[in-house]
Amino acid sequence: MTAPAFGGEVSDYYQRFRRGYPPEVADALVGVFGLMRDDVVLDLGCGTGQLTRVLAPRVGAVLGMDSEPDMLAEARRATAEPNIGWVLGADTDLGALTTALGPGRLGAVTVAQALHWMDHERLFAAVRPLLRAGGGVAVVTNGEPLWLQDTAWSAALRQLMADHLGVPLHRTCGTDASSQERYREALSAAGYTVDLRVVDYSATLTVEEIVGGVFSAMSPEQLPAPAARPEFTERVRRAIEPHGPLRERVRVRILTGVR
Ligand SMILES: C[S@@+](CC[C@H](N)C(=O)[O-])C[C@H]1O[C@@H](n2cnc3c(N)ncnc32)[C@H](O)[C@@H]1O
Repeated sequence: MTAPAFGGEVSDYYQRFRRGYPPEVADALVGVFGLMRDDVVLDLGCGTGQLTRVLAPRVGAVLGMDSEPDMLAEARRATAEPNIGWVLGADTDLGALTTALGPGRLGAVTVAQALHWMDHERLFAAVRPLLRAGGGVAVVTNGEPLWLQDTAWSAALRQLMADHLGVPLHRTCGTDASSQERYREALSAAGYTVDLRVVDYSATLTVEEIVGGVFSAMSPEQLPAPAARPEFTERVRRAIEPHGPLRERVRVRILTGVR
């Protein structure tokens, strides 16, 4: 695990261009954990609040917690829901949160597209005392990265990005089968009852949305200089548009562990 870099302009691209979650994802979480209007949910590694905002209307309150202040600042700016609290903190702060909230206070802890930055075994153990009976942990992944999909336009994007960054691109951010299996086994070993739900959807993207999504996944050092971004966008357009329509099929995986 390398320390992630989601600060500065990357957080702005993340807020504007990263996929959100369809309402069916929140419905699945409500069903699995029996979430009610008086439940509090912790969304750990919340980023700019993609899952936090979808959960908020269904429960009493959501705490969106993230270790990157710029992501939280973008989340706060983009959010109208009054029952979300944004908290600066990391997975390693859960002991302090348990002391602050008291045991059994949370209906669920969600970790969406963020577990690959954390020590998942330690996290699953640390979360247990925070959960009420019937509550649990959800490990959510939101489809494959734009450049790792099984389409011709994605392959062209992958080649262009590998040329730009000077390295081949393989990192799947926890969406691959072996990561999913490791998470499942660790949840089970920590005493949770494990289940998997999936939500499928498809979307047609513009070149600008794809470039914004790519920028949201770069570190600040990898981002092209502002003046070079229009030219980068045109290179992407020339590479991928011949393979259009720019359609992606997204599978949201919701791996749950009930306490
Ligand atoms: C790829 S984003 C996911 C954001 C959002 N949950 C989503 O589904 O799109 C990963 C987030 O995890 C945060 N993060 C990374 N390591 C973390 C840690 N140890 N504790 C809390 N947040 C962390 C990053 O700052 C970033 O905002």
